[in-house]
Amino acid sequence: MSSSDPDSISAASVASVSKTYRQGSRSVDALRNVSLDVPRGRFVAVMGASGSGKSTLLHLMSGLTRPSSGEVQVDGQSIASLSDQQLTCFRRSRIGLVFQAFNLVPSLSARDNILFPLYAAGRSLESEGVLKELAEQLGIADRLHHLPDALSGGEQQRVAIARSLITNPAIVFADEPTGSLDSATGESICRLLRTLCDQQKRTIVMVTHEPSVAIWADSVVVLKDGAIVDQFPTQICGDAQSLAAKYQEIVTGVAAKLAETAG
Ligand SMILES: Nc1ncnc2c1ncn2[C@@H]1O[C@H](COP(=O)(O)OP(=O)(O)O)[C@@H](O)[C@H]1O
Ligand SMILES: [Mg+2]
Repeated sequence: MSSSDPDSISAASVASVSKTYRQGSRSVDALRNVSLDVPRGRFVAVMGASGSGKSTLLHLMSGLTRPSSGEVQVDGQSIASLSDQQLTCFRRSRIGLVFQAFNLVPSLSARDNILFPLYAAGRSLESEGVLKELAEQLGIADRLHHLPDALSGGEQQRVAIARSLITNPAIVFADEPTGSLDSATGESICRLLRTLCDQQKRTIVMVTHEPSVAIWADSVVVLKDGAIVDQFPTQICGDAQSLAAKYQEIVTGVAAKLAETAG
């Protein structure tokens, strides 16, 4: 884990990773020989159709599941070398997770939801100031004593993002974080993620199928049928429409190529 230049270590990387799910006699190749490097401080969007393997890639990189083959490294740590128990500890301390469905505990206040990962990791809040600052940055400082039910969708997602950051993780993984929100609220969540990256050098990997969400990232990785078919910086797309066109071009281009080889 040591290096003279910490910036030279990627926040997360997967090398030649495949994942096959087996269900009885049936098996699904969810990922095929995927390699990806996420540099520190970068905001990466993973796009692809439903079933293309986006969540599987996120679950592998966040140590929620293990690959069938290949190597996953997070924060300089090889996942394969950790026992299940060590992996759980590592995940709790070094990885932040944000889901489409927020996944807040309904009987706990926003404050206790945010602090939950600290307690799960056997830690306690260093100081009230830490929580206060985080809540202020996320715009939920006056909502901390409410139960999730009393919060809007956007506020619930802000609480979930605060929860993902409370352990000061090396990387945050977000799976369709705007998927349950209206477009204006979704945009405010995108802006928040962008700010966390720009101002706090947070590393973020976000799954989305919406170009208007992906445009907020630094780069886009396109998955199709379990393989990475392209990667490009969002800079080359002026806006969400141009990103949508680029994405379509990639996906249909790959489909045409496949048809050609099949024919
Ligand atoms: N736990 C699982 N058991 C069996 N098949 C799964 C499991 N999780 C995902 N899959 C399959 O793997 C493929 C990729 O799924 P997923 O990663 O969830 O795609 P996405 O997030 O892009 O929609 C799909 O065909 C899906 O049905
Ligand atoms: Mg998914």
